[in-house]
Amino acid sequence: MASTLGVAVVGFGWMGRVHTQAYVRLAHHFPQLGLRPELVLVAEEVPGRAEEAAAQFGFASTTRDWRAVAADPRVQAVSITAPNFLHREIGVAMAEAGKHIWIEKPVGLSAADASAVADAVAKAGVQGTVGFNYRNAPAVERARQLIASGEIGTVTHVRVRLFSDYAAHPDGALTWRYERDRGGSGVLGDLASHGADLARFLLGDISALIADTAVFVPERARPTGATAGHARAVGGELGPVENEDYVSCLLRFASGARGVLEACRVSVGEQNNYGFEVHGTKGAVFWDFRRMNELGVSVGASYQDQPVSTVFVGPGDGEFGAFQPGAANAMGYDDLKVIEAERFVRSVAEGVPYGATLGDAVRSAAALDAMSRSVVSGGWEGVGG
Ligand SMILES: NC(=O)c1ccc[n+]([C@@H]2O[C@H](COP(=O)([O-])OP(=O)(O)OC[C@H]3O[C@@H](n4cnc5c(N)ncnc54)[C@H](O)[C@@H]3O)[C@@H](O)[C@H]2O)c1
Repeated sequence: MASTLGVAVVGFGWMGRVHTQAYVRLAHHFPQLGLRPELVLVAEEVPGRAEEAAAQFGFASTTRDWRAVAADPRVQAVSITAPNFLHREIGVAMAEAGKHIWIEKPVGLSAADASAVADAVAKAGVQGTVGFNYRNAPAVERARQLIASGEIGTVTHVRVRLFSDYAAHPDGALTWRYERDRGGSGVLGDLASHGADLARFLLGDISALIADTAVFVPERARPTGATAGHARAVGGELGPVENEDYVSCLLRFASGARGVLEACRVSVGEQNNYGFEVHGTKGAVFWDFRRMNELGVSVGASYQDQPVSTVFVGPGDGEFGAFQPGAANAMGYDDLKVIEAERFVRSVAEGVPYGATLGDAVRSAAALDAMSRSVVSGGWEGVGG
């Protein structure tokens, strides 16, 4: 019989819902887990939203004040799924209150914010898991193993792309995402944070980079009411978009490999076109999130005209076997969050970290900070962190 872990969720927008669904599904996909999440509290500032969450998912209680979560002895673990500007304050407060945290990327507005949360987690001796879900895809894990095994030779270069149209519509509301104070960076924190993490996950640390950014939709209408996700607003007062829609970046890795990272939130015709192409001296591996369970793999000794095979991941690749019985049965985005929830809860159960940690968040954020510095300096910047 599994013992229970009292869980709270802070911020019940898109990610709050996805984290909650993941907790609920843990028992379905990972019945062997020794800890069973129990939804005890949801904190949400929009009136009525927490109550709706409780009615749908069975949270025992609700609050509009996240500080009540830190003070609640029933709560042992907290999902922090509020906007970026709250990550630092809430993350540090929860860790200091002795709560384990599962916190969304990019963990604050800067590497300093991510470091503050990482330090608080380390000092409190609690576990901290970060929402870099794309590395949880079984195909990405297999790609990482393939690269590490040397099957594609010495890695020479990678291209990481994250193109989306979620902000392409001119009526997309001027939510917290477009404001420096509440969102921090734009597509850097939103998408390039995932790209930097994927690049590191596959190729190791990034040592230096040079970046360029642009704003393509400079004004948006302010929303007149509460928003969640990528809401629309028509007719509201126009305000300035304060952070970048687009980034392109050249990367140098500590290994000597080179890379290109490009991300855009206003790419018409692109829906979640996220992926990578990793090239080595003897082969290559390709991944596209939209065909999440497939890899393009080119290995052999031909060098030229070497064919590319499509490999469907299956049981034995990452956590695929917890979701599907055989290769080419599709997994989806939310499944990546169930895997992340499992790693978080297993970290708590065993007292050792699994999956993406706050250390990974600090290193991703350090790359984003270096991109911002590079835009100002016009030159190459070292990536610390
Ligand atoms: N890992 C991923 O793939 C992924 C995808 C989307 C968003 N995210 C991250 O998740 C976080 C949330 O993004 P989202 O898309 O869910 O945003 P959202 O706007 O849909 O949800 C945020 C919620 O937080 C609530 N909130 C704001 N201030 C609050 C406060 N003081 N107390 C309690 N609740 C408060 C808002 O009312 C809203 O319901 C962001 O950090 C974002 O970067 C990650």
